Amino acid sequence: MSEELKRQAAAMALATLQPGMRLGLGTGSTARHFVDLLGEKVAAGFDCICVPTSEATARQAESLNIRLSDLDRLDRLDVTVDGADEIDPALNLIKGGGGALLREKIVAASSDAMVVIADSSKLVPVLGRFPLPIEVNRFGLGATRRAVAETIAAHGAEGGLRLREAAPGTPFVTDGGHLILDAFFGRISRPEALSRDLLDIAGVVQHGLFLKMCTTAYVAAPDGVKTLAVDPQ
Ligand code: A5P
Repeated sequence: MSEELKRQAAAMALATLQPGMRLGLGTGSTARHFVDLLGEKVAAGFDCICVPTSEATARQAESLNIRLSDLDRLDRLDVTVDGADEIDPALNLIKGGGGALLREKIVAASSDAMVVIADSSKLVPVLGRFPLPIEVNRFGLGATRRAVAETIAAHGAEGGLRLREAAPGTPFVTDGGHLILDAFFGRISRPEALSRDLLDIAGVVQHGLFLKMCTTAYVAAPDGVKTLAVDPQ
């Protein structure tokens, strides 16, 4: 059921594409449906050029003969289509459950629009139920971890911090070679201030709060796909 809903949301985003577009391709199980559907469209003759947000998405897109580029060769993208772990009423997001947050944020920030595709389980009144991924440099992990722990405690995190593991005892390593600390908040009451405070920590590379980046979300529920939009600022 949930896979079918993700595919329906992906199909809505696909229907908005115009030939010749420069696209950012997201990461995760919902984005995977979008890339699959885009592959079918490309096979039928649709022209586009895409920048993937992870090695996994790059491999999937290559296997479907989707033309790929990068942000060295392309200045701006028209739209990035990606999933999300949480979506609040202002379309602020938590992302990075799949560990691709850094590239996802770089690609979304280089796009004129960010479209999110999701099933309705991702809608929340306030961000923070999903653990916030914080990507950190391997160097100085202990010091960074202490600084992050202090910061999230000051922001009311209820559940502490955990180093993400790929398997018991083996840390998860991102495509950029970094580690991820997952921060358990419960609720994030001041996301902008938290974002700034986390980015002020020297060892923090990026975090999974995507604030004022998403312009449209296609959210699929059993009774249909809803379009949520915010006015571009
Ligand atoms: C990848 O790092 C994430 O940001 C995903 O976009 C997010 O976790 C949503 O993934 P699903 O579509 O698999 O729920």
